[in-house]
Amino acid sequence: MNPRSSQITVPQFVAMKSAGRKITMLTAYDYTMAEMIDSADIEGILVGDSLAMVVQGRDNTLPVTLDEMIYHAEMVGRAVRHALVVVDLPYLSYQVGKHRAIENAGRVLKETCCQAVKLEGGADQAEIIAALVSAGIPVMAHCGLRPQSVRQLGGYRVQRDEEQLLTDARAAEEAGAFSIVLECIPAGVASEVTAAVAIPTIGIGAGTGCDGQVLVLNDMLGMTGGRVPKHVKAYAQLRQPIIEAVTRYRDEVRNGEFPGPQQTFE
Ligand code: KIV
Repeated sequence: MNPRSSQITVPQFVAMKSAGRKITMLTAYDYTMAEMIDSADIEGILVGDSLAMVVQGRDNTLPVTLDEMIYHAEMVGRAVRHALVVVDLPYLSYQVGKHRAIENAGRVLKETCCQAVKLEGGADQAEIIAALVSAGIPVMAHCGLRPQSVRQLGGYRVQRDEEQLLTDARAAEEAGAFSIVLECIPAGVASEVTAAVAIPTIGIGAGTGCDGQVLVLNDMLGMTGGRVPKHVKAYAQLRQPIIEAVTRYRDEVRNGEFPGPQQTFE
């Protein structure tokens, strides 16, 4: 499907870097939230595989399937009129070879209204990125902390290898990626990486020197129970008001106050 006429395109997203305009991006997983955040005029929406954790309640992102990603991407894509929508390729949907990667990423573009995919990797995924790009599929790379490699990394840790990060970012750019997410790396290193590539870097836990920022929506709205990572800033505290509203509803149903005359048909 074609992007809506006023929707931000991949070239427009890329051009924001040379124009010196910061790029704002958030995750979304369903129609209602995507419609709301799109109306706030942000430039990018990511249907992140973080949905495995925040929507499906899993411990990590490894189990989510391509069909599940497409299911959520369809809903988000249907809601969005303005932002560029990028969809995460889930674990093992692209690492297994160029042909599988093209078929799987191609499904995202064919079956949803979304415009691009994201995959975790830099130098190690350069061949896959180049293959997708040669098939006309815009790719956002993801370097630094790569949650799909959590088993290998042994946890969600700040990634500090500056040389590796520069190699990864340059390789992703050379392979044709249009942008790179930098997750959980020291701010100074993120600034170095950002200066080393012509494509926009989008930071999460990577300081202010990136060309843009992304956060997980549920975290930045204060909906997440328990501990949130250091890089999260909650711009609202929605968890408590939601629980309070449900508690009031529960009490009013139990004591016969709801439904009242206003909600009742004669
Ligand atoms: O899945 C996700 O939400 C992401 C962001 C954390 C960048 O990849």
